[in-house]
Amino acid sequence: MRRGVLIFLIINITIIAFLVHSVWTLLSLLVVDGSADAISRAELPAPGSNLIDGRPQLIPKIIHQTYINTSIPERWQGPQKTCIDLHTPQDGWEYKLWTDAMSRDFIAAEYPWFLKTFDGYEFPIQRADAIRYFVLAHFGGIYIDLDDGCNRSLEPLLSYPAWVHRTIPTGISNDAMGCVPQHPFFMHVMDSLPKYDRKWILPYITVMATTGPLFLSVMWRHWSSDGLNVGDAQVRVLFPDEYFNHPWSFFTHHLGNSWHGDDARFIFWMAKHWMFLTFAGFLAAGVVFAALWYAYGRFVLGMSWKGQVTRRRLPFWRKPNNIDYELVQRHEV
Ligand SMILES: *[C@@H]1O[C@H](CO)[C@@H](O)[C@H](O)[C@H]1NC(C)=O
Repeated sequence: MRRGVLIFLIINITIIAFLVHSVWTLLSLLVVDGSADAISRAELPAPGSNLIDGRPQLIPKIIHQTYINTSIPERWQGPQKTCIDLHTPQDGWEYKLWTDAMSRDFIAAEYPWFLKTFDGYEFPIQRADAIRYFVLAHFGGIYIDLDDGCNRSLEPLLSYPAWVHRTIPTGISNDAMGCVPQHPFFMHVMDSLPKYDRKWILPYITVMATTGPLFLSVMWRHWSSDGLNVGDAQVRVLFPDEYFNHPWSFFTHHLGNSWHGDDARFIFWMAKHWMFLTFAGFLAAGVVFAALWYAYGRFVLGMSWKGQVTRRRLPFWRKPNNIDYELVQRHEV
């Protein structure tokens, strides 16, 4: 092989390897389903079962929710009430609604190193995302989005040091999750927030990747692949059937997500067609590769597009030898 071809191939392979490496975590999220960490339905006692009292209670009985202020919009008052009614102070539960003002005061007082990032977020939803990790890791408890209602008491979910909610097709969400105070996974999440604070082109991607479900999914993926998801540091996973839509599920979901814009609809479209898009991506990579190959032959080696040698002497896959040179030279005379 000619040296030029070798360099061409090495450059291309390096570029492809770099691209694959940079999206490796995302690609692996498509295939890693977290079932090894699933909270199985067999171990979850039914609502009201006597088994519930016998289980360890590791997570403190605190429910955290967040909103701009205390005037919760009407469409969320119903779901909010179902959670409050099922977890009463008589049963030892505490309810905390984190308003914007309370959230900022809390960060300023307890985690001042984060205040600059917190205040600097462009979108309010980023602060709403970030604060849930901080209050969870600080106090322990269960965080629930305001557009989620409770279908049964969450007591059985107190038996795990930490759990998150699996979403389909990939990753986990940050709409409901629980942990003990200072759980290592959530402290790692807090530590990582400033590093992930970047601007992406679309607001939706920025929110998802800096503080939202995509950010948390990447954290979760690394936590496993780095071998940290073991023992008390293990993060268990609540799968969709245990999450909602069944009599034994813990939550009900109400349409919410008022912050989604047009770019979000575009991303949802992409998520729905990810198989096609992956295929299209590979096809595009192939076309680029072919184009580079052609350009290499055309301009570096001086071949016409039918493969005839015009400027230089030889097709690049042939080793030069004396006869070729002689022939070429004769032609030129
Ligand atoms: C709470 O925030 C909403 C939305 O910004 C606003 O319309 C409402 O007046 C606020 N309520 C209070 C009590 O400040």
